[in-house]
Amino acid sequence: MSVLIKENIITLNTKNTTYQMAVNPNNYLAHLYYGALLDDSLAIERGNVGYHTLLPLPYDCRNREFSSAVCPLEYSAYGCGDFRTTPLKVRFSDGSSVCDLIFESANYVDSKPKLEGLPALHDNEGKSQSVEICLKDKVHDLRVYLLYTAFEEYDIIARSVRIENHTGGDLILESVLSTCLDNYEDEYDLITFDGKPYAERTFHRTPLGDVKLTCESKRGSSSHQCNPFFIFATKNCDEKVGECYGSAFVYSGNYTASMEKTPIGTTRFVMGINPENFNFLLKDGESFQAPEVIHSYSNNGFSKLTHNYHDVIRKHLFRGKYADAERPILINNWEATYFKFTAEKLLDIAKKAKAIGVDTFVLDDGWFLGRNSDNSSLGDWFVDEEKLGCPLNQLIKEINALGMKFGLWFEPECISENSNLYRAHPNWVLQAPDRKGALGRKQWVIDMSNPDAVDGIFGMMSDILDNNNIEYIKWDFNRYLTDVYSHALPADSQGEVHHRYVLGVYDLLERILKKYPNVLIEGCASGGGRFDCGMLYYSPQYWTSDNTDPMERLSIQYGTSFCYPIIAMGSHVTESPNHVTKRDTPFKTRSNVAMAGTYGFELDLTKLSSEEIEFLANETNVYKKYSQLIRTGDYYRLTSNSARYMGWQFVSNDKLNSLAVIVQRTSNIDFKPIIQKFEGLNPSVMYRVVIDGKERENLYSGNALMNIGLNIRSLKYENESTRIEILSAKAQ
Ligand code: DGJ
Repeated sequence: MSVLIKENIITLNTKNTTYQMAVNPNNYLAHLYYGALLDDSLAIERGNVGYHTLLPLPYDCRNREFSSAVCPLEYSAYGCGDFRTTPLKVRFSDGSSVCDLIFESANYVDSKPKLEGLPALHDNEGKSQSVEICLKDKVHDLRVYLLYTAFEEYDIIARSVRIENHTGGDLILESVLSTCLDNYEDEYDLITFDGKPYAERTFHRTPLGDVKLTCESKRGSSSHQCNPFFIFATKNCDEKVGECYGSAFVYSGNYTASMEKTPIGTTRFVMGINPENFNFLLKDGESFQAPEVIHSYSNNGFSKLTHNYHDVIRKHLFRGKYADAERPILINNWEATYFKFTAEKLLDIAKKAKAIGVDTFVLDDGWFLGRNSDNSSLGDWFVDEEKLGCPLNQLIKEINALGMKFGLWFEPECISENSNLYRAHPNWVLQAPDRKGALGRKQWVIDMSNPDAVDGIFGMMSDILDNNNIEYIKWDFNRYLTDVYSHALPADSQGEVHHRYVLGVYDLLERILKKYPNVLIEGCASGGGRFDCGMLYYSPQYWTSDNTDPMERLSIQYGTSFCYPIIAMGSHVTESPNHVTKRDTPFKTRSNVAMAGTYGFELDLTKLSSEEIEFLANETNVYKKYSQLIRTGDYYRLTSNSARYMGWQFVSNDKLNSLAVIVQRTSNIDFKPIIQKFEGLNPSVMYRVVIDGKERENLYSGNALMNIGLNIRSLKYENESTRIEILSAKAQ
């Protein structure tokens, strides 16, 4: 049993972890424990020790046994002496915001219920177990349902919150965060994956001090600037040792996450929808479902935490045809042509792509009515046959005749001022009355909280998808939300627009996937500006960054890898010097880095020499050979982001095959050899080692490769890279 309700203690067990709470003598739901697996007797022991009261600073003199200011709690509301960040704040119809949540009930739930309208981990096999706990305000009939699901095999606890209003009046939800993780220790570092366009998800480690650390997005999407995935870790935590806790938000809009110490040395971590500009009217009898957070714990360092997330996302977040299937190798025309192309030019590129083993041709921005720059036409999803020189159908047929699939770019959530759609539906745009609104990238954002607008976009996209053999969509989004006002909602509901926008996007994605289940959607937001578990539920791969310089991608892909599976990261071989950085890098390094993702190309292949085409054809073959290992194997970061060279490694589940890459970041002026130790192998298996296609004479035991390592002699200069295949000698 992974969920156990016994006396006043509720326990969730996974393979290696225990999550535990207790109803304390005052009827509050206290957090007891989250950490390494406990046996049942220890669990009860912990409850008996009285952890769930924590006396030192009783806030209410009528109750000296309990302090709401410091007691670790599972969830709490504003107004009754919990001065930490409280996840819930409501305004009742009498204007009061005081809410005191006490335990009402706890019930087993088989498997995992769906969250209405929201992405979440799914459990089609019915292997997981859940518990639903009801807390209730002491005065009003406001119910808070906390849902916890244990994914035993993956050491994952998913949790979410639903609020039900039975108060007899309407109320306003001013804050409904999804998780509150209190802890009895406070010597932690908070690890964030913040960044900017061209430098998304950069690893930052900040010691928890005496002031609260907050990360958030107010941009309407999860954003380039901060990613909704966090780790707090003990000071000694590295890839292999130490304790760490991960929290991934399954949501793509505004969010907040913060971590703070209390004066007595406990901590609180919270995460959820950003309360700023969030005011949700909940009528009597209605409920509000807040998004899910995926928690995990490891006492074997970051590496184990990463494996937990990679595995659960691949098996229980991805859905549909591509959840567990080979991903196509793409050629995308964007960096090859930008807006300037004809069908003839595209076909020339496609033919070369076919010659190097590419499976899918993707036509990026610029294929629809009058779209020759980013000045116009977004929202007019009709083919510009004049520009192409033929109907889209004809181009697709010719590409299909080459034996390749065809993919198409859309930016469904945006609209140009110069578009027929805007002229016909000016009210479908997020714009406050009497204001035109910011024109980021010369475009506005469609009001996706308006179901009519969502219907309209769905109709136009369906028309294209019904009449053309399209098997892949690149779903782009090149804006942050400003001027957030919906003409479809009354004045007192404007605080709902941000959240309803996200629900509208999810609805559109769901409808497209339902109608076109064979289409693979790759998400994109000016690069990786909305790379989160919410989007991965619909699009199991995401364009990682518009920065395609492999040396810059090292740290972007490094940061992204902590939570998100390698197969979720769109990664392409592009031109050199790179369009963004002007840095020159060898083809080999561009290819090696792109292989740590969904391999593809984004350059004008017609300009390459026959030797270069031959080189890339060989690389594509290597990728095909290892694509299953890259997609399903365990991923290890071999170095930190600050190392002079960077390395990573994939190991097959049976530990018999492995692929590693090492990239030299700065010239090795001392010519000091790199002695690289590997991870995850079977110590007693003998392996062959092939470095850049050349097999070493000796066989090496897994033990030697992991403890002594290999002398990588080939790397001396910056931007060079090497590929190491480690293959069981028996499997030969
Ligand atoms: C931004 C994306 O990140 C690029 O890959 C490309 O699709 C452009 N948008 C097209 O406008």
